[in-house]
Amino acid sequence: MMNKFLEISRVGIEFPTSNGTYCALSDVDFHINEGEFVSIIGHSGCGKSTVLNIVAGLYQATSGGVILDGKEVNEPGPDRAVVFQSHALMPWLSVYDNVALGVEQVFKGNKTRAEMMEWVEHNLRLVKMDHATQKMPHEISGGMKQRVGIARCLAMQPKVMLMDEPFGALDALTRANLQDSVMEIQKELNTTVILITHDVDEAVLMSDKIVMMSNGPAARVGEILEIDLARPRERLALAKSDKFNYYRQQVLSFLYEKKGVVDFDAAKKKIETTPAESAQASSNDEKVS
Ligand SMILES: Nc1ncnc2c1ncn2[C@@H]1O[C@H](COP(=O)(O)OP(=O)(O)OP(=O)(O)O)[C@@H](O)[C@H]1O
Ligand SMILES: [Mg+2]
Repeated sequence: MMNKFLEISRVGIEFPTSNGTYCALSDVDFHINEGEFVSIIGHSGCGKSTVLNIVAGLYQATSGGVILDGKEVNEPGPDRAVVFQSHALMPWLSVYDNVALGVEQVFKGNKTRAEMMEWVEHNLRLVKMDHATQKMPHEISGGMKQRVGIARCLAMQPKVMLMDEPFGALDALTRANLQDSVMEIQKELNTTVILITHDVDEAVLMSDKIVMMSNGPAARVGEILEIDLARPRERLALAKSDKFNYYRQQVLSFLYEKKGVVDFDAAKKKIETTPAESAQASSNDEKVS
């Protein structure tokens, strides 16, 4: 396993708005090892998708940068495939052709037509969609569309899979099934994954590491929680596990007690004011990565 496979290094971004510039991220800093499954969690609007878009190369950071496998990321590339919350399938292409589109983009010239066909089918088998290859997107359910989106992403053999709330729009049962499939596939292929989620249980169940973001503006990483639970993970057994519940509690506490607030300036001011508050502020500071 290679350390610091993906480095998000002191990333800041400002957006021009009608009221002047809006600083969405400031000094976002964390790294991901090869084959690691990392979730990003934080309140709505804190900047999770912005981080993902910068890693995808769709947004340019105003300061800092992203290095993947030793190379700086400046534009989108097939080494980083994105699964969006809404599946983003081409409505005029069949299930098979939606996956084939990505495969042709990446493997044209390296694989024969027959090899590409076999590869598309293989990836549709992985997500259990091989029974519906000729169906059109409007003929399949939301969960099935999401499976096809994941197959398209996997079939491109990206170095990193970027998933922005991929299960958000699904019912609880479909969501659980897809979470299990993604965990299985990720383990089998040792894919590096960044998953954005609002769901605390999903983050703990699936991740090796949870990056918890503070609220914006100027959002940054508040805390990073390492999840040391053996794989494969089984949701029913984990629900009764003290360790699982401890991790869950840590995330809930960050989100709802601290409310994702990591106010660095306020913490500094407190140190200058009262000794009692200063002790509190410095203990908070220690938790900040
Ligand atoms: N292109 C843009 N122009 C201006 N502001 C933007 C742009 N993209 C994002 N923002 C702002 O940056 C902040 C972070 O947005 P982002 O979409 O990353 O949040 P998020 O954490 O993904 O939220 P959610 O959980 O609701 O999806 C928001 O205040 C948003 O309005
Ligand atoms: Mg978002």
